[in-house]
Amino acid sequence: MARVFITGSSDGLGRMAAQLLVEQGHSVVVHARNQQRGQETLAAVPGAETVVTGDLASIRQTHNVAEQVNAAGSFDAIIHNAAIGYQEPRRIATEDGLPHVLAVNTLAPYILTALIRRPKRLMYLSSGLHQSGDASLNELLWEKRRWQGQQAYADTKLHDVLLAFAVARRWKDVFSNALEPGWVATKMGGPRAPDDLDQGHRTQVWLAVSEDPAAKVTGQYFYHMKLRAPNPASRDVERQERLLEACRDLSGVDLPSR
Ligand SMILES: NC(=O)c1ccc[n+]([C@@H]2O[C@H](COP(=O)([O-])OP(=O)(O)OC[C@H]3O[C@@H](n4cnc5c(N)ncnc54)[C@H](OP(=O)(O)O)[C@@H]3O)[C@@H](O)[C@H]2O)c1
Repeated sequence: MARVFITGSSDGLGRMAAQLLVEQGHSVVVHARNQQRGQETLAAVPGAETVVTGDLASIRQTHNVAEQVNAAGSFDAIIHNAAIGYQEPRRIATEDGLPHVLAVNTLAPYILTALIRRPKRLMYLSSGLHQSGDASLNELLWEKRRWQGQQAYADTKLHDVLLAFAVARRWKDVFSNALEPGWVATKMGGPRAPDDLDQGHRTQVWLAVSEDPAAKVTGQYFYHMKLRAPNPASRDVERQERLLEACRDLSGVDLPSR
């Protein structure tokens, strides 16, 4: 039996992954943005061990999420799943002055990775759209670019792959991988999404708990439990380090180098 923490498990693929892990007999700590969503999440995932709460758009609350997770003990696996989709019509600024999509999709998994006691396995939810992410990393804050919601989302999903691979390279004692779930009909994916929803949560669950040697790898990118080629820019070590540096500058949190 493994112990797994999943961000953004109040809905969609995070909730489905939590439900499947509980069904398989694992111990799962779920996460929701606030107390009310937390209660709803516990009701939707009967058998979950407990819930931690906090809005990942806020750096302060994200620190607090990490504290709650550390207070709950050690984890075998953490699934960085929570995200905002590609339909924000304008640059929405968080309380820290950051684009909302960047705060939730890029900075929160970075901060949580750095501050939560290191698990054995880390999974980062990316998207096929990461292939068109801006690999220059030049304008993370969208202060000069004209806002494009889909591009902003694609950029952050490339960041998630860069983060997964940077962690895999720095932390040799951890399996750190990224994956895309397919375009599926969750709140984010929308009702017309063409891919199989029932496959959308399985790869991250498999990577989290399976003893299959194919799941016990690091620095890889998956789709439906098979390796898939990520954007080649995600393999560029200098670019990985630049993303970590930008996240450190924005959050004030350092990611241990090994
Ligand atoms: N669905 C797709 O087609 C698709 C395709 C490619 C990649 N993905 C990736 O798969 C992952 C899961 O997506 P999904 O489709 O399951 O999305 P979803 O149905 O919209 O669920 C997102 C989850 O994240 C939570 N969340 C969002 N912002 C948060 C915040 N500021 N603080 C705390 N929690 C927050 C949501 O909480 P609430 O319920 O309270 O909103 C919800 O539990 C994401 O990383 C996404 O990028 C999805």
